[in-house]
Amino acid sequence: MLEVVDLRCEYKVNPIGIDVRRPRISWKLKTDERAVLQTAYEIEVAADAEFSRIIWSSGKVESDQSTHVEIVDVQIASSTRYYYRVKSWSNKGDSSDWSAAAFWETGLLHTSDWSAHWIGAPAEVIAEDAEQSPLLRKSFELKADIRQARIYTTALGLYELELNGARVGDSYFTPGWTSYNHRLQVQTYDVTSMLQEGENAIGAMLGKGWYSGNLGWQDQKDIYGSQIALLLQMHIWYEDGSVETIATDEQWLASASPVLMSEIYHGETYDARLEQPGWSEAGFHDSAWQQAVRVERGLSQLVAQENEPVRKTGEIKPIALIQTPKGETVIDFGQNMVGWVRFRVRGDAGSTIEIHHAEVLDNDGNFYMENMRSAKVTICYTLKGADVETYEPRFTFQGFRYIRLIGFDAGVQLGDFTGIVLHSDMPAIGTFECSDPLINQLQHNIEWGLKGNFLDVPTDCPQRDERLGWTGDAQMFIRTATYLYNVAPFFTKWSRDLAADQLENGGVPFVIPNVLSKESHSSSAWGDAAVIVPWTLYMAYGDQRILEEQYSSMKAWVSYIQQQGDNPFLWNTGFHFGDWLGLDAKPDSYVGATDRDYIATAFYAYSTSLLQKTAAVLGKTEDAEYYAKLYADIVAAYTEEFVTPAGRLSVSTQTAQVLALMFGLLQGKAKERAVAKLMELMEESKFHLTTGFVGTPYLNHVLSDHGQLNTAYRLLFQQDYPSWLYQVTKGATTIWEHWDGIREDGSFWSKDMNSYNHYAYGAIGDWMYRCVAGIDTDEEKAGYKHIFVRPQPGDQLSWADGSLNTMYGSIRSKWSRAEDGAMELLVVIPPNTTATIVLPGADSDKTMESEIPLQQTEGISSVEQVENGVSMLAGSGEYRFTW
Ligand code: BGC
Repeated sequence: MLEVVDLRCEYKVNPIGIDVRRPRISWKLKTDERAVLQTAYEIEVAADAEFSRIIWSSGKVESDQSTHVEIVDVQIASSTRYYYRVKSWSNKGDSSDWSAAAFWETGLLHTSDWSAHWIGAPAEVIAEDAEQSPLLRKSFELKADIRQARIYTTALGLYELELNGARVGDSYFTPGWTSYNHRLQVQTYDVTSMLQEGENAIGAMLGKGWYSGNLGWQDQKDIYGSQIALLLQMHIWYEDGSVETIATDEQWLASASPVLMSEIYHGETYDARLEQPGWSEAGFHDSAWQQAVRVERGLSQLVAQENEPVRKTGEIKPIALIQTPKGETVIDFGQNMVGWVRFRVRGDAGSTIEIHHAEVLDNDGNFYMENMRSAKVTICYTLKGADVETYEPRFTFQGFRYIRLIGFDAGVQLGDFTGIVLHSDMPAIGTFECSDPLINQLQHNIEWGLKGNFLDVPTDCPQRDERLGWTGDAQMFIRTATYLYNVAPFFTKWSRDLAADQLENGGVPFVIPNVLSKESHSSSAWGDAAVIVPWTLYMAYGDQRILEEQYSSMKAWVSYIQQQGDNPFLWNTGFHFGDWLGLDAKPDSYVGATDRDYIATAFYAYSTSLLQKTAAVLGKTEDAEYYAKLYADIVAAYTEEFVTPAGRLSVSTQTAQVLALMFGLLQGKAKERAVAKLMELMEESKFHLTTGFVGTPYLNHVLSDHGQLNTAYRLLFQQDYPSWLYQVTKGATTIWEHWDGIREDGSFWSKDMNSYNHYAYGAIGDWMYRCVAGIDTDEEKAGYKHIFVRPQPGDQLSWADGSLNTMYGSIRSKWSRAEDGAMELLVVIPPNTTATIVLPGADSDKTMESEIPLQQTEGISSVEQVENGVSMLAGSGEYRFTW
């Protein structure tokens, strides 16, 4: 039986408040049968869930497309729900019933839909330079028979809403961080069940957040503006067809809140004695409140929420209460995490307690905060004197494993503290496990690196005074991220901010959203995020629209490079971070030994090659030809500059060989020599890496792609410094910024640049999914429409098991080796995809000649056969190979 399931609109299940004019629909096929492919589909869009009022029908479309099908012909109106359903036909002569109905609902699409005004607290309530958070409220009467109600809202700063005393929604850090001068997200909430006939009240608390709080390490604030403000509009639809609107204006009232200070980096200061119980409820006495003031700000930047919001995604119970040698009381949560601590406390009114956050204890076991640099990461709470008081902050987050308690009484209990994990709530889609516990811990650390650094924007680190959208780090890690979570909406939002903040000449700021100085832009391997990020989303999710949307930004970046220096085919001018933190750096330098102009030209070639492919995907033939020619010219210039006539690379670092081989810059003899050189360098370093941010993500790929699989495994399994497992053996629960964040003797690398939660080196995750488990997609049929399963077992493992829930459904690749050496591979392929299974040892270039000792192929019943270790599968099924 064929079923259409898991309907999504713009990647989301029943999204509300979206503003996409031509929304895209994706679905999955469910079947027990093998080898099922879609041959046709039909989509209906209706005004009601019963589909009695059909707005649009695609008719039966002969097509195998089941992802990102555009709804082109529906005139989308504001505040409207559109129901849709899908039917599918398969190659088995089968057809499904209509799927269950799904929907999308629009938000306010036009600025003319808004009657609300921006409002803030007057100076009598919060003095202009004060740190305190304001409260805003409004009470209002409603008639009986409310059919439905929505709130559309956003803020300059951060907001938290309450309606009749209850929190609205489960999102945090709203409205999220975007390039606020160009784009500001609006959230939509369904509040139907929170309203009542008669008197109601709505309240909002505002915080400074990224808008006007401290950002960057140079003590900047008010980067986007100094006045925090709220814009809110509630629509109430009654059963009788009438509509009412409650909107922010000067009739709202303002007061000061108990939040005396809230800052992303510094934490929160809260005086519970200032609480006003019932402040967001009807009947609250607000006569002492002042009238809110209008804030001048337009509406032209408003866009609907794009990525999944930040939510609470988990709770962590602490594992130990520690008295440190210095006599301090410290709690260990056992996991370097990002979010905050919820705690219970008892004590006298007016007494104050503090919580400090740290990632590590020092060599002596004392609490260590120096690597937080100027971030104060302190929660300061003044008690009101209730029996038990529970508190958690709201407009700040911390990256920590340990907390230090100040001012708590002697009887503190571990059970009074809970770690609340917060990050962008994207669907988890990948798993990887293998027979080695240390590698599994490394996987865990990679995943926690992602969780901690995907809090609305992809950040370098979540703890010190940075937490910025460093382009280089994002570019290095994105492919790994696509295997762990569906990161398409997350990076779509960020890519739009990149385009918004891009310089007129195509230069790309070091961080997105850009909060650094004018000069801080366009380092090679950082700015290339403009091209690599959209291309990677296309590869992982088959998302062609992201390429269309970002195309001019991608082009602008390549043309920026073209304009640098005298030679349009080399990039040898300007500032570059180089192979950041490479271990072949000169003493006291952060920059690895690989020449910066070498890296710059290599990435110039790489970005141009991706742009050429993008042009081809988008059917821009002339552009594709232009970039193909440009690419050839860059490679020629690179060869002249860096490759001797005899084929030797003039830059002899690991990273130099890796980039040349990964980006396909060498041919024939020169290629062989680069592989040989890389192996020579490996031997010299006793099979340890010396690569930094730029070389590390590609190192193992290059080795396994060039016949050096054993060396790739050897690197991965090293346990002494420098290696991925070194930090695991030192107790890491996330990925470190430095290979030697904690040295052999227990001392720290340095205090000024030493994060213990930096995802960049977690890019090895990509190799584990793509080579160890062997799950990959095909550039020609991106988004896993055509799947490669090419596991490459290493001697150190007896099994590995990877899975990936793609837009088509779940892929699985699990291999195992029995004691007697017999191998088994279990493969699961979702419907409506094809797959090429390449068994270990088969050489896909020379399929016909190679000989795999293949003994039997079990459980294969339809189209496929195994020839010399390669099997072609079409459609759904579970397949088992033994040899
Ligand atoms: C960040 C990095 C970033 C780098 C630029 C650092 O401060 O933490 O991850 O890419 O600056 O080189």
